[in-house]
Amino acid sequence: MATPWKIGMFQHVGPIGPWQLPENVSTGFTDLEHWTTMARKCEEGGADFLFFADDYGYPVLQDGIPPASLRGAVQFPKGDPSMFLAALAVVTRHLGLVVTLSTQVEKPPMVARKMATLDNMTNGRIGWNIVTGAGQNASARLFGLPLTEHDRRYEIADDHVDLCLKLWEGCWDEGATIGDPTTGVYADPDHVREISHDGPHFSSKGILTMPPGPQRAPVLFQAGASATGRDLAAKYAEAVFLAAEAPALKSQIEDIRRRAEGHGRDPDSIKCLIAGTFVVGQTHADAQRIRDRQIATRTLDDAAVAYSFFTGLDLSQMDPDMPLDPSAAQTQTGRTNVERFLGPDAPTVRQILEEFQRNNVMGTPFIGDSAQVADMSEEVMAFTGADGFLVQADHTGTFDSFFELVMPEFRARGLVAAPGEPTTLRQRLTGSSSPHLPTDHPGYAYRNHAAALV
Ligand SMILES: Cc1cc2nc3c(=O)[nH]c(=O)nc-3n(C[C@H](O)[C@H](O)[C@H](O)COP(=O)(O)O)c2cc1C
Repeated sequence: MATPWKIGMFQHVGPIGPWQLPENVSTGFTDLEHWTTMARKCEEGGADFLFFADDYGYPVLQDGIPPASLRGAVQFPKGDPSMFLAALAVVTRHLGLVVTLSTQVEKPPMVARKMATLDNMTNGRIGWNIVTGAGQNASARLFGLPLTEHDRRYEIADDHVDLCLKLWEGCWDEGATIGDPTTGVYADPDHVREISHDGPHFSSKGILTMPPGPQRAPVLFQAGASATGRDLAAKYAEAVFLAAEAPALKSQIEDIRRRAEGHGRDPDSIKCLIAGTFVVGQTHADAQRIRDRQIATRTLDDAAVAYSFFTGLDLSQMDPDMPLDPSAAQTQTGRTNVERFLGPDAPTVRQILEEFQRNNVMGTPFIGDSAQVADMSEEVMAFTGADGFLVQADHTGTFDSFFELVMPEFRARGLVAAPGEPTTLRQRLTGSSSPHLPTDHPGYAYRNHAAALV
C-alpha cells in the first residue's frame, strides 16, 4: 500500500455555515458535550486528528463591524478551543488534537507552557497550528496595537517559534524528572537548564516550568500560504494546511518542498493537507441538492464580509466588472486570498464575490456519491502530490456524512490506514518510531545541546 492518506477534521468554536439549516447542530458550540461527542465520532470514524482553527479577529469594514457579520455569524462568534481540549483527550485515546495559537497575540513562554501541559495531558497527541493570525485589522484594534506589517508578522513568528523550540527541547534532558519522595528529589538540577534567547523580537532567559510531554515539541502545523507563509512552513512545519484549486495546490506544495530543502530538511517530511469539502449523498443528485441548499444560505454581502476578514479589502466598494488592482497584493492583512485572484486570468470583483459565496476560502468541493468523491479525491491527490485532507464539516456542522459515506470508501480502496495502537500524533502522522522532532528539524539542535541554546 502506498503511504496512507492523513485525515484531519476542521472545526472552530462557533457556528459553522450553513448554520441556518435546521439539521445543522453547530450552534451548540457553547456546550462541552457538543465537543466531546464530536471528538468521539472523529475517533470512531478513524480520523487522525481534530483541528481547531482560531484567531481573535472578526470582519471590520470602514472601521466598524459590519452588521452582516453579527447577523449572519460570518467569522464570528468564536471561542478558545485550548480551554477545553483536555476534556476531549479524556473521551478519546487515538485522536490527535490540534489547536491554533497566534504568534502575534500569545507570548512564546505562554505558548510553550500551554503546549507542554497539553502534551502531557493528552499522552503526546497535541499539535500547534502556528499562525500570524487572520482578521488582523480587528485583532490589532482589539489589543490596542498598530497593525504590524504582513512580512514583519512572519519575522516575528519565526523568532517566536525559535524561542518555543528552545524551551521545549533545551530545558529538560530526558530523565531529568525523578520525582522520588524517598530522596526528596523532584528534578535533577544537572539536567534542567535555563535557555537564553536574544532574538530580533523576543528575549528570554529561563526555563519551561512544565516538564515536556511525550513529544516535547508539539507537532508543528502551519496555515498561511503567502510567500512568506510558505517559507515559515518550510522552515518549521511538519504539516501544512492548504486551500486552493488543484493547479495552485500543486505549485504551493512544490514550492514548500523546495524551500524545505533550502532549510536543510527532507522535503517529504512535511505533510501537505488539502482543505477539502466533501458534499456527499447516496446519489450525485442528493449531493447536489445539499450543495444548493448550502449555497442558498450565503448572500453576496456575507461573501464580501468574509473576504474583508481574510484580506482587509472591501470588495463592495470596488468596480464589480474589474479585476483586483495589482496593488491589492500589498495588503497588510492576509495575502493568500489576494494572491490567488491576481495574474493573467484574474477574475472580476463580482466573480471573486461569487466564488466566496460558493466556496469561501476553500477550493471547489467534491460533490457526488461515495465512489465519485473518492475518484475525485484520488485524482487531486495524484496531481498535487499532497499527503491527505483536512476535511470541512458538512451541512450539519459535523462530519457524519464523511464518516458514513467517504471514509469506508477510502478504506475499501486502501487509501487510509486502519487505526493501530494509540500513539503520539507525530508518530501517527509520520510513521516514525520516535515521538520527537526529526534530526533535520531546526528544533532538534536544541536537544541536549546546551551550546546551541544561546
Ligand atoms: C485550512 C486552513 C486553516 C486555517 N486556519 C487558520 C487559523 O486557525 N487561524 C488563522 O489565523 N489563520 C488560519 N489560516 C490561514 C489564514 O487563512 C490566512 O491565510 C493567514 O492567517 C494569513 O496569512 P497569509 O498572509 O500567509 O495568507 C488557515 C488557512 C487554511 C487554508
